[in-house]
Amino acid sequence: MSAAPAGSETKGHAAGADTALRVEGLTVRYGSLVALSDVSWSVDDGELLGVIGPNGAGKSSSFAAVTNTVRSEGSVYLHGHSTTGLSTERLARQGLRRTFQQNSFFSGLTVLENAMATSQVEECTTLLGSILTPWREARQRSATRKRAGELLIEFGIDRRYHDLFPDDVPYGLQRILSIVLAYGGGTRVLLVDEPAAGVGGADMQSLADLLRELRVRGLAMVLIEHHMDLVMEIVDQLVVIDRGRRIAYGSPADVQRSPAVLEAYLGEAA
Ligand SMILES: Nc1ncnc2c1ncn2[C@@H]1O[C@H](COP(=O)(O)OP(=O)(O)OP(=O)(O)O)[C@@H](O)[C@H]1O
Ligand SMILES: [Mg+2]
Repeated sequence: MSAAPAGSETKGHAAGADTALRVEGLTVRYGSLVALSDVSWSVDDGELLGVIGPNGAGKSSSFAAVTNTVRSEGSVYLHGHSTTGLSTERLARQGLRRTFQQNSFFSGLTVLENAMATSQVEECTTLLGSILTPWREARQRSATRKRAGELLIEFGIDRRYHDLFPDDVPYGLQRILSIVLAYGGGTRVLLVDEPAAGVGGADMQSLADLLRELRVRGLAMVLIEHHMDLVMEIVDQLVVIDRGRRIAYGSPADVQRSPAVLEAYLGEAA
C-alpha cells in the first residue's frame, strides 16, 4: 500500500467489504514503463471520488485497469466481489462502466440509436432469440426506443437532438451524452474520464448538475478531471496521483493542505 500523507483510509472498510468499488495496490505496466504503481482507493454507493494529477500521471490507466482493458496487478472488488478475469463487457453487465477522455459514440448511429444500442447491452438480446422469437424482438425494440428517448430527455437532451448524429449536436451536449450513455440503466459504478475537457462555463455547470443528480440516484462515481474548481466543488473524496503513485487521499480540504500535493501539483497550478 502506498504512502498516504493526507487523511486517508478514514472510511475503515475491511479488504473486499461490500463497498461499491475498491481498488487495492493497482499497478499498470506498459512494457518497461510503470504507468501506475500500487494505488489504492475505494468509493461507496452515492459517493463521488475525484482523481487528479498532472498529465501522464496514470489516471486513465487506472480506469483501463479497473475495467480490465489493460493487464494490471493488484485487486479490484465490485460490491465485494473480485473482478479478476472478468471481461470488460461482463463488468458492464454487472454495472461497472467507463466513459472516455474523447467522445466515443457509435459512428453512423443517431443520438437515439446510440442510447438504444447501450441499453440493449443490458437487455442481452441474443441473435438466437431474435431468430426464434422475432415478434418479441420487435416489441422489445420498440420498448427500448421508448426508454432510450425518455432517458435522454430526463437528462436534458431534448427530443430535437435525438435524430441527429452525435457529431452534429453542440459539444457540451456531446460530453453530457457520453455520460448518459455510459449511465444507461443498471449502471451502479461509473468511471468518468475528463467530462469537462474542452467545455466552458455554462456547460461545466450542466455537467456538475448531471453528476450530482447521478449521485442522488445512488451511483458510485469516480471522476478524473483537470478543472480544479469543478473537482473541489463536487467530489466527496479525492485521490492525487503523481507519476503513477498515490501522493494523497482524503477529503478535498485535507488534500489541498497536503504538502506533497502543494509541491507536486496544486502548488504549480496556484
Ligand atoms: N496504451 C499505452 N501504451 C503505452 N503507454 C501508455 C499507454 N497508455 C498510456 N501510456 C503511458 O502511460 C502513462 C500514463 O498515461 P495515462 O493516460 O494513464 O495518464 P493520465 O494521467 O490519464 O494523463 P492525462 O491527464 O494526460 O490524460 C503515460 O506516460 C502514457 O504515455
Ligand atoms: Mg487521461
